[in-house]
Amino acid sequence: MYNIPSPSEIKKKSLKLFNSSKKDIVDETIDKSKPFVHEHFTLLYYTPYYEKLSYEQKLKYNQLCGVMINELFMFLEESLINKSLIKLKHHPDIVDITDLSDCITGMIKEEEKHHKLFKKLNRICFPEIYQNSVYNFILLKPWEKKLFNASLNYPATMSFFIWLILTLEEFSLTFSTALLKNKNTENLGELDHYFTHIHALHLRDEINHTYLDMHLINACFVASNPILKKVNTILFKNILKLEGTLF
Ligand SMILES: [Fe+2]
Ligand SMILES: [Fe+2]
Repeated sequence: MYNIPSPSEIKKKSLKLFNSSKKDIVDETIDKSKPFVHEHFTLLYYTPYYEKLSYEQKLKYNQLCGVMINELFMFLEESLINKSLIKLKHHPDIVDITDLSDCITGMIKEEEKHHKLFKKLNRICFPEIYQNSVYNFILLKPWEKKLFNASLNYPATMSFFIWLILTLEEFSLTFSTALLKNKNTENLGELDHYFTHIHALHLRDEINHTYLDMHLINACFVASNPILKKVNTILFKNILKLEGTLF
């Protein structure tokens, strides 16, 4: 069983981290002769075609996967996490819990900060493709965006969104922790220092976010009625199946 810090402890810790993070920026340059991510986080690695690539092709593919993962984090922070958090702040089961509501405000600010960090990082990595755009891989069709935004307007589905946020934040924890634990890759040498540094900054906030997600689940899901629980469970199981076919 997790020992989850209380919302007031999370609030204190995140405020301290938010104020100290500005001092942590290191030399903002990327070494394009180095990989950005571990090869086992890239899809082609699991196919026989990966071995047929030259060293240069593997390196370029690795770096493109790195900026794509950053795009994925940016998209989730902007389109899923922050949009649902703004709604959650007014959820009837949360609005009166001051500390929890304050934590949501803090988390929104942190996700905005992460979005800026990743946007800048991608521009440093590939200025030629990110100069005038934020997304080059994660491109939703207009109807997909509309459907996504419309579903956020139904408070009964909020706990489904929190489960989804928790799984995605758990993935970002696993990914960033791996970058910090092992700086080497199987075939491409040492990871780029600045790329890893930005993910280390991201990781510090995300640990608190997963705790906060658990408080939000307790407030919205555990307290909801059995029918809403059932609906949210079905939605969540289906999105996990869909994720399984995509990744
Ligand atoms: Fe984030
Ligand atoms: Fe987060």
